[in-house]
Amino acid sequence: MTQDELKQLVAEAALKHVVPDAVVGVGSGSTVNFFIDALARMKNRIAGAVAASEASAARLRKHGIEVLELNNVDDLPVYIDGADEITEHLAMIKGGGGALTREKIIAAVARRFVCICDASKLVPVLGKFPLPVEVIPMARSYVGRELRRLGADPEWRQDFRTDNGNLIIDCHGLTILDPVQREGELNNIAGVVTNGLFARRPADLLLLGAPAGVRSIAARGV
Ligand code: 5RP
Repeated sequence: MTQDELKQLVAEAALKHVVPDAVVGVGSGSTVNFFIDALARMKNRIAGAVAASEASAARLRKHGIEVLELNNVDDLPVYIDGADEITEHLAMIKGGGGALTREKIIAAVARRFVCICDASKLVPVLGKFPLPVEVIPMARSYVGRELRRLGADPEWRQDFRTDNGNLIIDCHGLTILDPVQREGELNNIAGVVTNGLFARRPADLLLLGAPAGVRSIAARGV
């Protein structure tokens, strides 16, 4: 199976986790695009969606799915999103597409986070994928120096602005053994909006697409 076929497989499997008559949280990226296309088939059975990126919002609208503002949503039973790396403990690196801040906000609001990935995303330790950090433009150089001091090799993502008008610095060379602590440490740098570690609020369920089928890995106690 190709990587796209595996993404499609988990996207379809995620439909079972969408709660009827409720608003669904929708992340961003190529795996989520497959999910949005699948969600269109049940658009009359949901109350609408909140989207983590302008691109996802546009795709949802193209399918005739109403996109709501998060501030107007009181209850979000489930959020479906991809990841760039994920561990068996369901901590993730996200933000390859630069939508990490809105993704983290929606993940915080949602009662349940279902992560959908092809099997290549499952790793024993986070950090091989460069960790994205969203930065206020005037803080770029300062944040870069601080990231270097913390052991990263920072690279400014060229010709890219987030949906929030900010910059992304990708951190190479990190081996992230304690993602919860690392997430807080990076967020404490002045000028950082957020970083792509999702460890303080990990996924609740991982649907992992492999040639043998979809494997489910639930967080302990879920
Ligand atoms: C975007 C993200 C995506 O979830 C992540 O990059 C995975 O994308 P894809 O499904 O294309 O591999 O965090 O900011």
